Amino acid sequence: MSVLAAEHLHLTFPKQTVPVLQDINLKIEDGTLTVILGESGCGKTTLLNILAGFQKPSSGQIKLDHEVVTAPDARRAVVFQDHALLPWLNVSENIGFALQLKGLKAQEIQQQVDAILKIVGLSHVAQANIWELSGGMKQRVGIARALISHAAFILLDEPFAALDAFTRETMQQLVLDLWIEQNKSFFLITHDIEEALLLSNQLVLMMARPGKIVETLKLDFAERYKQGESIRTIKSDPKFIQLREQLFERLRVQKQTGHEVAV
Ligand SMILES: Nc1ncnc2c1ncn2[C@@H]1O[C@H](COP(=O)(O)OP(=O)(O)OP(=O)(O)O)[C@@H](O)[C@H]1O
Ligand SMILES: [Mg+2]
Repeated sequence: MSVLAAEHLHLTFPKQTVPVLQDINLKIEDGTLTVILGESGCGKTTLLNILAGFQKPSSGQIKLDHEVVTAPDARRAVVFQDHALLPWLNVSENIGFALQLKGLKAQEIQQQVDAILKIVGLSHVAQANIWELSGGMKQRVGIARALISHAAFILLDEPFAALDAFTRETMQQLVLDLWIEQNKSFFLITHDIEEALLLSNQLVLMMARPGKIVETLKLDFAERYKQGESIRTIKSDPKFIQLREQLFERLRVQKQTGHEVAV
């Protein structure tokens, strides 16, 4: 079983006095959904960058399958909010780019790309240019690129923030379906409380200055989707709504006062 773990992470940027991250401990197990929720500037993206191997902590470490890792590798894939797609390549070429770099044969790349296109529902735009796609489609290409690398852990930084409510919910469903059917682990940053509740087995709440974890909630809404409940039914369940409102109030007071409060 694969495990991605952050152990006693501290980070203070040069010329700054307040740590960006303070004693962050987090365990992300194979086939699980982890969501980070917290006010702007609390260090979410920085934490993702450290988990991905892009940024080094001042102290503490990242362990992958119980071994310390200090650089990016194919076991962790990142999906960026701004897509980070290559505009001079079409959809299929963008998805197959990493395999091309690896030197795989054209036919093999095509086979893998076609399979991934089907999974993310983009077969009909396989040859389209990137600028011809909607925001949701671009984000699907980003996810497809993460899937083709066969990474066990997919890290996403506010991936659906720019999408309308309906497209956003379709993307949430895609994440849940990939979690179920492909057995992927997702680590997702969001500012959307509903999204956070729906897409997590563990919901990690952070506070700013210094960025630290204040609570980790174990949730079963994703599991209920897995058992066959629809997203709309889950989101309109009184238990879901109550938790959503509690979290909203907690984050509102936290932002206003700069302190953690029990709501
Ligand atoms: N390379 C850097 N050098 C100096 N300070 C940085 C650097 N990267 C981030 N910071 C600072 O660290 C803090 C946390 O930034 P980070 O981007 O991780 O926050 P965030 O929680 O992702 O915020 P948002 O929700 O707005 O995306 C901020 O105060 C930011 O200015
Ligand atoms: Mg951020």
